[in-house]
Amino acid sequence: MTMIAKGLVALMTMGVAGVAMAADGKAVYEKACVACHATGVANAPKLGDKAAWAPRIGQGKATLVATVKTGKGAMPPKAGNAALTDDEISAAVDFLLAAAK
Ligand code: HEC
Repeated sequence: MTMIAKGLVALMTMGVAGVAMAADGKAVYEKACVACHATGVANAPKLGDKAAWAPRIGQGKATLVATVKTGKGAMPPKAGNAALTDDEISAAVDFLLAAAK
């Protein structure tokens, strides 16, 4: 009985954490993207820099997410963080694009 209850609690906790991470682009940005995109390291388009983001926004979000997965220029594949899920990358791109509107 106790074992089953503990297992259920563990499963529920994992489920909640998974949903929160997938939804929070700002948290992913602050964990995996801020190092380059806050100051523009190696010409990374800066957070909130409309002129730098305008031509990129034109490519469409799906293309940008794919670019982050494969890497581009000085940006390594998955931004150098192989543990990032597609959902996390997508949420972080949403966050960057929303800041550049
Ligand atoms: C090691 C530094 C670095 C990290 C970390 C990094 N980026 Fe980048 N990013 C760059 C650079 C440099 C470019 C510009 C690439 C170019 O145009 O040659 C770029 C470009 C981009 C672009 C535009 C791609 C295009 O087609 O022009 C997106 C979208 C992007 N980054 C998203 C992210 C996201 C999301 C994260 C975090 C998950 C992230 N980046 C983390 C350096 C980084």
